[in-house]
Amino acid sequence: MSDMIRTLVMRTPGIASQDGDGVKLMRIVGTRELNMLDPFLLLDWFGSDEPDDYIGGFPDHPHRGFETVTYMIEGRSRHRDSAGNEGVIGPGDVQWMTAGRGIIHSEMPEQEEGRLAGFQLWVNLPAARKMTDPAYQEISAGDIPIQIIAGGTIKVIAGTTTGGTTGPGTAISTDPLYLDISLDEGAGYDQPVADSHNAFIYVMSGSVGTGDDRVSAGELGVLSPAGKAVFADAAPETRFLLIAGKRLNEPVARGGPFVMNTKAEILQAFEDFQDNKFVATGKF
Ligand code: FE2
Repeated sequence: MSDMIRTLVMRTPGIASQDGDGVKLMRIVGTRELNMLDPFLLLDWFGSDEPDDYIGGFPDHPHRGFETVTYMIEGRSRHRDSAGNEGVIGPGDVQWMTAGRGIIHSEMPEQEEGRLAGFQLWVNLPAARKMTDPAYQEISAGDIPIQIIAGGTIKVIAGTTTGGTTGPGTAISTDPLYLDISLDEGAGYDQPVADSHNAFIYVMSGSVGTGDDRVSAGELGVLSPAGKAVFADAAPETRFLLIAGKRLNEPVARGGPFVMNTKAEILQAFEDFQDNKFVATGKF
């Protein structure tokens, strides 16, 4: 851990996109502008009052080679997967799924009207763990500790705050930090982040200073690779995610819902999926 302070190296609002059965979302990581930020492969923000934007949900689809982390902000969504897990997540709940060698799941809205909003983050697995057993961790809002700080609060989903509060989320090997930080006008916060980790923020409301820059609502800010994350002079009602994870420094091959190290492994994943090797919890 160094005494350096991370600076803002890039900001992006993401691009309006569609996935699943016509769900409208903002793709923020996983775009041409920001293809990935090792170990993070994708970040989507979905937020709409309009049922047509979300009602189709994400019917059955496979994943292999990484973890998906869904954080519901508003509304309710039902998850069901081929490993036998099922659950409904509501406001403030988190679902942490390790796809490992292969899982098929659906993520469907559990509502026909009202607002549905949340994030999905994809966290990569290292080569040695890509074919690990699928796993599923459901974290209810009540299990997420809240650290009170001067001028704000931090919901600790994963990792440990400056004040020593540790969240329940665990990844296979990337030692993630996942904080939901709310700050009052003028407030700030310092968070140590290991130099082995990449870090970014996504501002949901208000704006916050970091280094000589500010990041505003609807923007993702990538922080430089070493030092602590320092935030200052928040606008009124500022809320943002601070997410960090250990760099894997491995080659990445993508093929739709599969993320492996080589093209051959992607082709194998498609073959295994077509051969129905994803449907059960049994070994393959
Ligand atoms: Fe999925």
